[in-house]
Amino acid sequence: MCRNTHPLFYLQIPNTCDCKIYDFTLSLLAKIKLQDMSKKLYSLTDKMSDLICDNYNLLQVMSRFGLPLGFGDYTVEEVCQSNQVDANTFLRVVNFINKGHARSYANVDHISVGSLINYLKNAHHYFLDFQLPSIRRKLLEAIDCSTDNEITFLILKFFDGYVQEVRNHMNYEDMNVFTYVENLQKGIKDVDYNIDMFVRNHDHIDDKLTELKNIIIKYYPHSKKAYLMNAVLFDIYNCEKDLASHNAVEDYLFVPAVLQMEKDVTEQAKMIQEIEEQESTNTEKKETQDGLSQREKEIISCVVKGLSNKEIADQLFISIHTVITHRRNIARKLQIHSPTLLTVYAIVNKLVDISEVKVNL
Ligand SMILES: [Fe+2]
Ligand SMILES: [Fe+2]
Repeated sequence: MCRNTHPLFYLQIPNTCDCKIYDFTLSLLAKIKLQDMSKKLYSLTDKMSDLICDNYNLLQVMSRFGLPLGFGDYTVEEVCQSNQVDANTFLRVVNFINKGHARSYANVDHISVGSLINYLKNAHHYFLDFQLPSIRRKLLEAIDCSTDNEITFLILKFFDGYVQEVRNHMNYEDMNVFTYVENLQKGIKDVDYNIDMFVRNHDHIDDKLTELKNIIIKYYPHSKKAYLMNAVLFDIYNCEKDLASHNAVEDYLFVPAVLQMEKDVTEQAKMIQEIEEQESTNTEKKETQDGLSQREKEIISCVVKGLSNKEIADQLFISIHTVITHRRNIARKLQIHSPTLLTVYAIVNKLVDISEVKVNL
């Protein structure tokens, strides 16, 4: 049974099963599920205001994509365009959430990972700086501190511990996962990290909120401010659902999109290396009398000027791997294996001016 679709999915079915209640619960859940599945799939030409009228929960999605209210009769495409938001990514998230997070609607074609990261970062900001502090304030207001009751103290302690866990979880995503993906967008692949490592450790932070909710429902003592505690419970239900939705977007939209990106970057790097090797072979054919290609002479010049392999690669727009291959070929052709002799060779053959030499002679 999907736990991410509706708060009622968390209903506890008693062990000593009352069959009538059980059947009723199952039919209710089936109805809710059917309602979720019957919700429409939106397109770029739908009016933005219709989305909210159909499902007010989508207000959160709009806010996290940075779309302000006041849509008039503009379409999804028009509103996104005027706010520099990628309309396809927005629609993918809207339809995925609207369809009850069904994996069959987790389509990552034409998704902008940058837009999705902004959406997820804004959601983190909302949970940590608005929703959870607001629940705590309401919790403090609702708790009857005049009575010496251990349960009230435990509820607060549990909540604070939970918020810290959420903070750690989201900080890790902001600092590590999103930074990794942003570098990937620039074509830089961290060899020590991949999105699969994130998937293996990605825990569901809404689970613990379910525990807190159950403690309050089952054990919170009678209080004159019951209506305040009910209001807190209502907020916790909403927060739990919102967090589950956030996790589902990360697991079923963000991760597959990044997996695709990792595949593309690896293939791109492979292609660049093949082209560079091909170019290198072509240049080799145009070797000068001393057996060195023009590119190898450039590498010698850089080496004796004291540049590192990385600096040479950046300067000549080639990969470090190619620089190393060239250096190996130079040593083989000239039979020179010491930086000092290479410097002498470069000066004698006018590959470099003596004033530019950085290698100690
Ligand atoms: Fe997150
Ligand atoms: Fe997460």
